[in-house]
Order: sequence, then structure tokens, then C-alpha cells
Amino acid sequence: MAVNRGLEDVIAAESSICKVDGEKGHLIYRGYDIDDLAEHSTYEEVVYLLWFGRLPVKEELDKLHKELGANRKLPEDVVKAMRMWPKESVPMEVLRTATSMLSMYDPDANENDRAANVRKATRLTAQMPTIVAYWDCIRNGREVVDPKPNHSTAASFLYLLHSGKEPDEVAVKSLDMALILHAEHELNASTFAARVAAGTLSDMHSAVTAAIGALKGPLHGGANQEVIKMLLEIKELNNVEPYIKKMFADRKKLMGFGHRVYKVQDPRAFHLRKMSEALGKRANETKWYEMSARVEQLAKEEKKLNCNVDFYSASVYHMLGIPSDLFTPIFAISRIAGWAAHILEQLSDNRLIRPEAEYTGEINLKYVPIDKREELVSAKN
Ligand code: CMC
Repeated sequence: MAVNRGLEDVIAAESSICKVDGEKGHLIYRGYDIDDLAEHSTYEEVVYLLWFGRLPVKEELDKLHKELGANRKLPEDVVKAMRMWPKESVPMEVLRTATSMLSMYDPDANENDRAANVRKATRLTAQMPTIVAYWDCIRNGREVVDPKPNHSTAASFLYLLHSGKEPDEVAVKSLDMALILHAEHELNASTFAARVAAGTLSDMHSAVTAAIGALKGPLHGGANQEVIKMLLEIKELNNVEPYIKKMFADRKKLMGFGHRVYKVQDPRAFHLRKMSEALGKRANETKWYEMSARVEQLAKEEKKLNCNVDFYSASVYHMLGIPSDLFTPIFAISRIAGWAAHILEQLSDNRLIRPEAEYTGEINLKYVPIDKREELVSAKN
């Protein structure tokens, strides 16, 4: 039996949600190129597209906006619980735990038909940004304000994060585009985790909680936080070259670079690079963009490495004034769209996901009573 470590090159599902062309560097959501969606669409429109398979007409989009707006508030008990959690808790832990807790307050918690799952997905898409923004307020002793029903996802997140200060248009537009770019990416690790959980006929909240846990790791969504940590450590443009060369000499991984599927540039990075440069120019602080561009150039020259979605998103969020440990949660509040689409697709034609392992351990061992094991262990050592 051939073993594909990390399930590399294994096709584990049929899906009509998203195509990642790793050779050409194309990303397609339900037939639409990500470049087109990034330029012309909105996050809410993309949510509709992913869940329902086509772009919405005006009434459909209005209805989704209304439903999201009506569901952004968190159950009071969840906010109360969050106030009791240790202030140093990592935002991804908080998001994972609060998301799991929401199922106990969800009227459809134990329903698993498509309509109930779409309602749950809508609530989660509305509530997750509120959790992340509220946590930053709670841990820093800032006021928690009620969401406004007419805000978009991006506007609501920024408004709640800044305790009721209306965000400016450029910040909303930039975050909205970042949410579009992160919304879906085929069978990545967190989406696969979501499908595995959904495939047991568990519930939407369990599947999303599993996905959040998988996204948290630095090889996946956690990479964007590591990128800004690195840039802050590098400090100045002049330090980039010695820092990166030393990293390579020490055989350390460069966060925000490399990809399992893309063999060329990640198409999402193109938009985030542009955004990083524009936000830097607007704030008269181009240093983060310039340092990033130099890191990118060195990674290409020295190791032929291309940057991925997590690299320039770091300087984008930094320029938007977002605390660095919220970067991965922002990935999650976008990717809920894709996770939910995959959970719905998995359940529409479910088959338990249960691969096999090639056993490499021992066989035919005889059970040894506990009073005889010491000899056995010392003999083995
Ligand atoms: N820095 C340095 N070397 C790298 C990197 C990197 N970021 N990525 C790959 N390589 C090298 C790696 O050392 C290996 O070289 P060798 O064959 O000489 O040992 C070769 O390229 C293949 O790498 P791999 O780690 O075996 O490839 P993979 O498909 O298992 O891993 C990856 C993909 C994304 C985990 C990896 O590229 C990585 O760790 N990148 C840094 C973390 C990161 O940016 N993650 C975000 C991924 S994209 C968005 C997301 O999912 O959130």
C-alpha cells in the first residue's frame, strides 16, 4: 500500500465549490476567478456564492445582509463567560471556545438538515467577528458596544473592535477584500478537518470548532501572525538581508512562504501586496511594505520560494492597526464561509471519512504483568 504522507496529491472528495490550480496559480470560487471577485464583489456576495452556488440577485443579497445584521449580537451568557476567561488567553483559543459554546444557545443546534445548517452557518458568520472584536475589548478593558444591524461584516468587525468608532471607508474596503481572498481554498487542512467532523454526522458547531483548531497552527492560518512577529523583529529595511540569510543558513522555515498546492505565486498574494503598498503610502509608513518586498525578493533569489496568502496579509492588517494576534482570527472569520460551504456539500452526499494507516509497530507481543515490567523496560533500554 502506498503511503502519501500528509495526504499529498490524494483526491479525497469531489467538490464544486473551489478550484485551486497550483501549476498556473489560479483560484476559482464556483466558476469565478478570484481576481474578478476581489475587484468587483463583496464578502457577503461571496458568502452567498459559496453556499448557494451562484451570485445572488439584489433581494437575495439584501436578505443575507439583513440576516447577518440581525445575528451579530452574542448571547449574553457567552459575553459573560468571556469576561471570566484569563485575559492572556490567545484570541484563537477564545474564538474556538466561544464558537463551541454558541451551539448551546443555537435554536437549531441539534438539527442537521440543510435549511437548519444554512441558518447556523449564517449565525456563525455573523457571530464570529463579534467574538474576536469583543475579546480584544474585554482583555484590554475597553467598552463592548452593540453591533449595528446595517454594517457589513468588515465594517461591523472594525466598529466593534474600536468600541463604537465608525471605521473609515478605506479600512472597510481593504478588510472586505481581504475577507474575500481568505473565504475559501478547497481541501486545506482546516476545511478537511471540518469535513471529517461533519462526515460523522456531528453538528455544524463541532465541525467549525474543529476547523478553527486546525487553522490555529503556524503551518496554516497561524503563519500570518508569525510573519508580523518576524517583521517587527527585523525592524529596519537594512536588517532584512542578514536576518533572512541567517534564517536560511539555520534551515528555519520562512513563514508566509511555500504552499502544498501552488507551484507558482499564490494569486491572493498579488492583491494583498498591492493593498499593503497602498495602505503604507496612505499612512506615510511604507516601511512594512518595503521590508516585505525585500523578504519576498530574497526568498525568491535564495530558495525559489513564493509567498502565500499569509505573507502580505500581515503588513495589511498591521497597517489597519489590528493587533497581531487577531490576524489568524480574521482568517477564521472569513474562512467560516468556505467551511460552511464544505460542510453543506459533505452532508449533501455524505460518506464517513476514514482513511487507513500503514502499521509500522510491533506484533505478537505477550502481555507482561506489571510486577515483571521493570526488567522488560530496563532490558529494552
Ligand atoms: N521556508 C523555507 N523552506 C521552505 C518553506 C518555507 N516557508 N516552505 C517549503 N520549504 C522547503 C522545505 O524546507 C522543503 O525543502 P527540502 O525538500 O529541502 O526539505 C521543501 O520546500 C518542501 O516543503 P514542505 O514543507 O515539505 O512542503 P509542504 O507541502 O509539506 O508544506 C507548507 C507546505 C505551507 C506547510 C510549507 O511551505 C511551510 O511550512 N510554509 C511556512 C508556513 C506557512 O506560510 N503556512 C501558510 C500556508 S498557505 C495559507 C494557509 O494555509 O494558511
